[in-house]
Amino acid sequence: MDMKLVQVVFVMGIGLTVVGCGGGGEGPIVPPPPAPAEYADKHMPADWWADAAKMEEGRKIFIGETNIDVNCASCHGKDGKPVKAGARDFRNTERMKLYSDSVWLWRISEGVPNTKMKAWKSKLSEEDRWKLVLYERNFALTGKTWDAGKNQWVDAGNIAVASAATK
Ligand code: HEC
Repeated sequence: MDMKLVQVVFVMGIGLTVVGCGGGGEGPIVPPPPAPAEYADKHMPADWWADAAKMEEGRKIFIGETNIDVNCASCHGKDGKPVKAGARDFRNTERMKLYSDSVWLWRISEGVPNTKMKAWKSKLSEEDRWKLVLYERNFALTGKTWDAGKNQWVDAGNIAVASAATK
């Protein structure tokens, strides 16, 4: 085989490997981009944060029990530990606390371009997407509530939420 060709194939292989690993996985912790205007003012319905029934509905959607075509756990893992390379690890508190509820909803709705994370808004109502935010936040931010005024996650001091999350 021609040595030049071997070299080209080799270099391309390395290039693809680097691109593949850089797919947004768990690199350095940087804040996500701000939610676009369409989502910036959307927030979790205030009385949902402590609603165990809504959270349970979120869990069922997350694991594909509600709709077999929507199975977040197939990449993100049932317990929030990713099973597909590059999928966001929801157990990482340092990272996930940088995601406001609006950013979270936006990403679920519109996906992340050029990654395996696709847009889900055609398959899930906005209410269902909120239920997913409600459920996913338990992996790292159990019992916390997004405070839009303070612009951060705060302790809801709600034990009911925490115990529902450990199911
Ligand atoms: C085919 C695999 C796959 C499936 C299924 C999947 N995701 Fe993802 N998800 C990813 C990947 C990969 C990323 C990382 C994207 C990146 O690089 O920012 C991600 C990132 C995310 C993020 C964080 C976005 C960000 O800006 O970091 C959220 C939130 C999320 N997924 C929620 C969900 C929800 C909810 C579902 C189910 C409705 C779901 N995902 C289904 C692969 C998947």
